[in-house]
Amino acid sequence: MTAQDYFVSRFNSAPQFAARAPGRLEFIGNHLDYNGGPVLGAAIDRYVTVALSLRDDAKIVLASTAQDAAVETSLDAVAPAQGAASWGNYPLGMLKVMRDAGMSANRGFNLAVANDLPIGAGLSSSAAIELATGYALAAAFGFAVDRKSIAVLGRAAENTFVGMPCGILDQGCSAFGKAGALVLIDCAANEFSTKPMPQGAHFWVFNTRKKHALIDSFYATRNKECRESAAILKNANPALPNLASATEAQAAAAAAELGTERHKRVLHVVRETARVRDTIAALDAGDIARVGKNLTASHESSRDLFENSCAELDFLVEVATVLPGVHGARLSGGGFGGAVMVLTDAAFGAAEANKVSARYAARFGNLPSVFHAQTGDGAKKL
Ligand code: GLA
Repeated sequence: MTAQDYFVSRFNSAPQFAARAPGRLEFIGNHLDYNGGPVLGAAIDRYVTVALSLRDDAKIVLASTAQDAAVETSLDAVAPAQGAASWGNYPLGMLKVMRDAGMSANRGFNLAVANDLPIGAGLSSSAAIELATGYALAAAFGFAVDRKSIAVLGRAAENTFVGMPCGILDQGCSAFGKAGALVLIDCAANEFSTKPMPQGAHFWVFNTRKKHALIDSFYATRNKECRESAAILKNANPALPNLASATEAQAAAAAAELGTERHKRVLHVVRETARVRDTIAALDAGDIARVGKNLTASHESSRDLFENSCAELDFLVEVATVLPGVHGARLSGGGFGGAVMVLTDAAFGAAEANKVSARYAARFGNLPSVFHAQTGDGAKKL
């Protein structure tokens, strides 16, 4: 059902505003965004759509086709919720940061959300709902936004309202995505551009559906280890702008203070940064084999140095990378569960994907969810 139809069924009138935003894949650059590195991602052609009408009172009602519980609050009581109402933190967080940025919201609103983007599949439905809501609110309250500001606001909602210390990868890809293109983000400068997707390449996404209650705290731990490492290296190298700009020699010189674990995190960040740059050069040279090698090497670095992989993700990468038509494979996103992205040519189809799934099921007892993703267009007001 479209968000517009759902809105009508839920609120008995046609919506005044609508917007949509795509999910994303992380192509390469694992955990580089909040370290000031370069990352490559893509928007995919699956979207979260929101429909919105202003109310005459201060009430806010949020309903989603993907959630059992509607969320009700009011303009003067916007605060993060826990439990069944916590999905509302993404749209409410957007409202909060947009008001903080100067948007005057003087009326409540009804908001209906519809997804053709699977939730919890490692495709960042959270960034998509933030950006779609942001465009709808901007239209409703006459607030000027552009792709960069909407991405920055979405990240701020996530950091300050949802409480997730993410970088700008998800929101940047959802905002700047383009069909047929990868999104390149310089996360130090917050600069966004696109590069053509390699000709004939396909994405297959395998989601472990492994839900770990501690995923968010694992992510926050890695984020903290990186911040601590950056502080240690900056102490010795005051001109160092961020962790992604460090060198292995600087890390070696600070090895004692870093300790083994943080040293490994730094090596991942430094080498992954070099790999993203090499991947950009390989894309420019049309060298897809080198792109694919970098993707798989990125996974190995996440597994061994950043230590944010798990047996399920490693298995999917191992099984996929030996099949015909596969250029490379890696975990995509935060890790500790979630999804593996496989870059293939047309020789890899549903039959090969089924082989991967069958082997996974034989080993782990359940099928992964499988998704053949195409690149899609960035977030926009409808
Ligand atoms: C999640 C976060 C992103 C990024 C990736 C890891 O998707 O939301 O900001 O840090 O993990 O690269």
